[in-house]
Amino acid sequence: MSQADTVELSDEVQETFVLHNRLFQRYAINNITYFVPVDEDETLRLRIQHSVLTMMFDNRFIFPPINTPRRVLDCGFGTGEVRGIDITPHHHNPDEGLENLYLDIDDLNMPFQFPSNHFDLINSRLVAGGINSERWTGYVRDILRSLRPGGWVQMVEIDFNAQSDNGALADNSALRQWSQTYLYAMEQCKNPRAPRRLGGWLRNAGFTDVDERMIQLPMCAWSDNQREYDIGAANQENVRMLLSSLAIYPFTHYLSMSITEFHVLVAKARTEAANPALKTRLD
Ligand SMILES: C[S@@+](CC[C@H](N)C(=O)[O-])C[C@H]1O[C@@H](n2cnc3c(N)ncnc32)[C@H](O)[C@@H]1O
Repeated sequence: MSQADTVELSDEVQETFVLHNRLFQRYAINNITYFVPVDEDETLRLRIQHSVLTMMFDNRFIFPPINTPRRVLDCGFGTGEVRGIDITPHHHNPDEGLENLYLDIDDLNMPFQFPSNHFDLINSRLVAGGINSERWTGYVRDILRSLRPGGWVQMVEIDFNAQSDNGALADNSALRQWSQTYLYAMEQCKNPRAPRRLGGWLRNAGFTDVDERMIQLPMCAWSDNQREYDIGAANQENVRMLLSSLAIYPFTHYLSMSITEFHVLVAKARTEAANPALKTRLD
């Protein structure tokens, strides 16, 4: 927090409020930065999601060919990993601190204050819900400037447009309705299509050696392939939780959905997401 090269935020980042039985960070909500709760349920979900992605990536965290990075920046550190920036301190347990770990509370929508040519590796995973639409190109340029020559960035995002692998999910299903409503609510200020645009943005900013992969993430255990079946089984709880935590604030606050309508939609969407016959997936 007191590192000289980030803009320090005041104690207001600690302030929280309860809405619909979930705990939110006032700063992130007031500044239209990030709408997801900061309570223990969400911390748990991030840990489950992390283990799902770890399975998905065959126990690798970092794919660029970099052996002994000296300086690493983790954008949106969540439950914590090297030098991280996050708008909320709430998911991090200070007892897990390491001597060479600095976790700064800062907003990725603000221009980076880090020196140029500084980091060997920058990790940016699942921050699209908190990056303003018009910030993306500047964010990618800031990342490029902060990397030393030869440095790497790894970006991972999920497209929350729920699909069915066998076309069995009807357009009027609750899960499709959830997706369409989520994309609509988010695109008022964020870019829910960012996951599909990262490669283009990186190239336009001047990155070279850009490698893009689209990986399908099963929402429950339906695949004939054992590895994908196991990933889907592990992801089912993450999906159950995210259908509520990602959407509860945008749907009820920005789209004026009543909390009862919200719970009914989420309950139906959860049943569909967990139905192996529908072969649901996220890309
Ligand atoms: C879905 S979590 C992902 C956490 C971690 N990167 C991971 O992949 O497990 C998104 C994190 O990004 C943080 N975040 C979102 N928008 C942000 C912003 N504008 N500035 C800083 N942190 C942000 C959130 O507070 C949250 O901890």
